[in-house]
Amino acid sequence: MKKKYLFYDFFAGIGGFKLAADQVKSKQFSLKHIGYCEIDPVARQVYDKAHNTANKVQCIDDITKVKTLKNPSGTELVPFDILFGGFPCQSFSNIGYRKGMNDERGQLFYNILDVIEMYSPKFFVLENVQKLSTIKKGDLLSEMSLALEERGKGYHLHVWDLNASDYGLPQKRKRLFFCGVRKDISDKKIIDEPVKIDLNSAEYPTTWHLLEKGNVDERHLIPTKTRETVLYKNPKWQGNVTIDNELARPLTASMSKWHRANQDNYFSLSYIKSNNPKIRPVVDLKTEPIRRITPLEGFRIQGFPDSLAEITNALNISFSSQYRLIGNAVPVTLANKVIKHFLDSYHE
Ligand SMILES: C[S@@+](CC[C@H](N)C(=O)[O-])C[C@H]1O[C@@H](n2cnc3c(N)ncnc32)[C@H](O)[C@@H]1O
Repeated sequence: MKKKYLFYDFFAGIGGFKLAADQVKSKQFSLKHIGYCEIDPVARQVYDKAHNTANKVQCIDDITKVKTLKNPSGTELVPFDILFGGFPCQSFSNIGYRKGMNDERGQLFYNILDVIEMYSPKFFVLENVQKLSTIKKGDLLSEMSLALEERGKGYHLHVWDLNASDYGLPQKRKRLFFCGVRKDISDKKIIDEPVKIDLNSAEYPTTWHLLEKGNVDERHLIPTKTRETVLYKNPKWQGNVTIDNELARPLTASMSKWHRANQDNYFSLSYIKSNNPKIRPVVDLKTEPIRRITPLEGFRIQGFPDSLAEITNALNISFSSQYRLIGNAVPVTLANKVIKHFLDSYHE
């Protein structure tokens, strides 16, 4: 008999985990979406359109409103077997201040713990930035891992440090995954991380493969007065100014701002029009048209289907909001490999 698991999507954003779970195919089990929790109304609007969820599944806008032992008057969640969640990473990110768990947004991790305690899911898969593992010399990660293992009925925990470019996407995006199985479900304590994939066999082996080759909205071109700050090398700045990268730098939620070229993804017309993605053309930084990635390309780099760009355009969502949603998302292809491998390991 095929097992059927109901899953709940926390910190759902535009549904990277939902899509990743929908794409899992197994003879042993099936996954059914039962609810989601997301505080950002724009993200919820996109989510409902992209996943056809409006009034069909439970939707909670704020995890702090969920009924838990500490919050008995909160909204009770419908029963579920699997919890997915990419908890907000601002508090741990290498870009912001690394205040860790003292930052208010870091506290949302405690809300996840409370939900796990109250609803005892059989499995959970959580995602966050890799830099989390360096806070307090790794002590924060140890504390978080222990908290997850001990919560509620107790869990066997696997923590994997993975890069999206090893799992089918042309983006260097390093993420930590926390995969937990309730101790009474299985005795198996150790499983390997998912097997890596050769990017050459992926839908988009390099960023060049997913770049829009025709004209794009001119607001994506680097404005003349901004070029110097964005593109030119300055001895005071750290890092490499290279553009036309075969593998994209990690997409950020603030991509609409003109970051320096060592932090973001810029492409020259020569590269876009070239026919060898492995060769970086010689580019005149003063005159050549150079642009950031478009939202459509951003969705592709994160493993979302092109329909997401159609939806966000149809909803008239601003470029800056689109970039925020894209930059916050979990890479779908990577999350899919993690979920499939993790659940397969407990259904052999
Ligand atoms: C790192 S993003 C996760 C994105 C998601 N995994 C995806 O694929 O789009 C974190 C999300 O948590 C949401 N969030 C922040 N505080 C929240 C809260 N109190 N309750 C529910 N969602 C919250 C943010 O709006 C953001 O969309």
